[in-house]
Amino acid sequence: MQDLTQKSSWGYSKFSTPPITPKNTLDNKVKYLITSALPYINGIKHLGNLVGSMLPADVYARFLRQEGETVLFICATDEHGTPTEIAATEAGLDVETFCQKLHEIQAQIYRNLGLSFDYFGRNSSVYNYELTQHFYQSLDKNGFIEEREISLVYSLDDERFLPDRYIIGTCPHCGYQSARGDQCENCTSLLDPTDLIEPRSAISGSKRLEVRKTKHLFLKLSALSHTVKVWVEEHPNWSNLTKSIAMKWLNEGLQDRCITRDMSWGVPVPRPGFEGKVFYVWFDAPIGYISATQAWGIKNSQDWETWWRDTENTKYVQFMAKDNLPFHTIMFPAMILGTRENWKLADQIKGFNWLTYYGGKFSTSAKRGVFLDQALNILSADYWRYSLLSMIPESADSAFTWELFQVKVNKELADTFGNFVNRILKFTAKNFGATVPNGGSFGAREQELQNKSEQLVNKYCDSLRNMEFRKAIEALYSLWSIGNQYIDERAPWKLIKENREEAAQVVRTCINLIRIYALVSAPIIPFTSAKLFDALHLSNTDRMTKISESVNFDALYPGHPIHVIEPLFRKLEEEEIKELSVRFGMRN
Ligand code: 2FM
Ligand code: ZN
Repeated sequence: MQDLTQKSSWGYSKFSTPPITPKNTLDNKVKYLITSALPYINGIKHLGNLVGSMLPADVYARFLRQEGETVLFICATDEHGTPTEIAATEAGLDVETFCQKLHEIQAQIYRNLGLSFDYFGRNSSVYNYELTQHFYQSLDKNGFIEEREISLVYSLDDERFLPDRYIIGTCPHCGYQSARGDQCENCTSLLDPTDLIEPRSAISGSKRLEVRKTKHLFLKLSALSHTVKVWVEEHPNWSNLTKSIAMKWLNEGLQDRCITRDMSWGVPVPRPGFEGKVFYVWFDAPIGYISATQAWGIKNSQDWETWWRDTENTKYVQFMAKDNLPFHTIMFPAMILGTRENWKLADQIKGFNWLTYYGGKFSTSAKRGVFLDQALNILSADYWRYSLLSMIPESADSAFTWELFQVKVNKELADTFGNFVNRILKFTAKNFGATVPNGGSFGAREQELQNKSEQLVNKYCDSLRNMEFRKAIEALYSLWSIGNQYIDERAPWKLIKENREEAAQVVRTCINLIRIYALVSAPIIPFTSAKLFDALHLSNTDRMTKISESVNFDALYPGHPIHVIEPLFRKLEEEEIKELSVRFGMRN
């Protein structure tokens, strides 16, 4: 349990009269606050979780940083809720030890994947406790909290109230024997736990259940509906997916929502008569975006508040999978608007469809699909980053298959990109030594290559600014491909026999193209770019060149040192693909 006596340097009152940062203290430069949905703590995440929020958020953050923008990229582990308590019990650990351990495991995996969070916090932090309680108090003060008595199922043997989905029994509609108390998985009927025949606890199997009355707090979403709708309608630039989910909820009419639970792991409810109760995990979860920013600021002696208070100059972009959209388009904005305080609301909410595993669901709880630790044991981060982004479920669900992954790795990464780099560096070393060669002149074919490169880099930059990741990958792949076409046409290995100067010119053009590739590819495959920066001995300043200004075929001039490196990518053989398909199962 958090020690709430360990207060941060200021108390709740800091929030109650929120400062509106005076305009003249700001530099009026747009700055980007980027958050990716906070991963649940209860297990290692799978490829679907990565591609549906953290990875695109990281690419966007890396791209903007390289373009010279001021960026703050925040994430944290979402630690409360019944599934966490159950996962801890299954692991034989107390819940705090379990969360500490899983936070560290997840943080290490994200580092290995190259996710460049400026801060990776925890929703069990003292900052999140304080801020969640503050949000509740403001909402209460403004009349948006209501106390109600409700009936819930209590398990005598588990000694706890059971959330609907932790009560299982026989479906009254189809007879399925393991229907959950909220919905029957078999016939999809929506259920109430009391509808189930022979209900039992999903935790212990105990049938000693009884309905008990208990007091809870409700957030009056119905009273905030109009305010939220006005705010949603102010954002015509949201994607169809985001807009349609928000409008569906608003048009169906917002229902008041219970925001407290009878359990001990979570943020305590500071209200007489609510001792032993905590806030519902989805109440404190999005507040974690703010409290993790606060933790970042305090740990790094940085001004965190401007990011959340300077509503004019901060551009706030959230990334998430589609199941999270209702919470981010409706519930979290309602919470913020209901405080009537000056907190930044999202400008853009980027939602993704599902990445499936051969058309079936990835699932943490069912341990189905490829988990991030397993993925990194097969191949390193950049293979996954590129391949997953090329199949990112932007406009519809898309399927991960080992066969598709093999095409991405073998054809696109190894044959097209890796092979080009390898051929050029080796050819240069063999024929011209360890520096960029001199001779020849930039001709019409080179000019054509430059024009095409500029077009593709522009397309790539526009796509990333618009968060259109598939288009960005298409542009990147085309950029790699035009290098291959150029070298195949100009064939320096033949040319060198007839005209050494001309061959030097081709090689110099290609080395400069590798520099462009390294800069442009950096947000997608940062580890590979770093290897290329070293191989090309790029200066620190050049490494920071904006992608939009990267096309320069004179950057690396004759005499500039370079060195040969190991092939950038290895291929996945047929045998390996077969073995992986068997090991992970082809279908759910
Ligand atoms: O769906 C999930 O994985 C949630 N843990 C996302 C929470 S996002 C934010 F609101 F905290
Ligand atoms: Zn059923």
